[in-house]
Amino acid sequence: MKGCFISFEGTEGSGKTSVIRKIGEYFINKGYTVLITREPGGIRISEKIRDIILNREHTEMDPRTEALLFAASRRQHLIEKIIPALERGEIVLCDRFVDSSLVYQGLARGIGYEAVLGVNQFAIENHFPDLTLFIDVRPEVGLKRVFQTPGREINRLDLEQQDFHKLIYDGYLKLCNSFPDRIKRIPGEDEIDIVAKRCVKEIANLVLGARP
Ligand code: TYD
Repeated sequence: MKGCFISFEGTEGSGKTSVIRKIGEYFINKGYTVLITREPGGIRISEKIRDIILNREHTEMDPRTEALLFAASRRQHLIEKIIPALERGEIVLCDRFVDSSLVYQGLARGIGYEAVLGVNQFAIENHFPDLTLFIDVRPEVGLKRVFQTPGREINRLDLEQQDFHKLIYDGYLKLCNSFPDRIKRIPGEDEIDIVAKRCVKEIANLVLGARP
């Protein structure tokens, strides 16, 4: 495959979506074709699966069902959108991919990392990203960004969320240690331009290496 597949991960308020936009602009200006996507990626089947996952009435959904559905949605997005773009030689920037499931379903929902990895390996058949950038923003900083709307105080619910976010954050740090070659930790608490530059540096190594 000729293109480069890069995924972005982070906790809430990590700013990955804005960072991805900046990185996209950078590579487009350099003359590359860039696909910016996120699950379900506008793929009809994946959208329908996502509706089932997110439907507030589906309170009885079992965590493993949720993990399977995320994996199913991911596969269809991969097959219909990501792989064809890679075959055309494009740079694919994907906002969340398999690592979100490993952390959210595997660690935070308590299914277990190995089980969720197994399901996802079945779904993606080793199409792991070439590079994954974990935008490292500490949960308390990310939450502050999210909740720093004037007049809003951090309440009990937000504090509960803070525990959840800490779990997710620690999960990502674990993953960085487990896959040091694929997942790079990018310090993310500075200005967006600085964070984007750090990402570009990592991606440029990979992209230039892949191009003749
Ligand atoms: P999303 O709407 O993409 O929000 P964000 O801006 O945080 O990326 O994601 C919705 C939520 O779904 C988010 O809290 C992460 C979670 N999620 C999982 O639990 N498992 C997954 O595999 C993915 C892709 C997302």
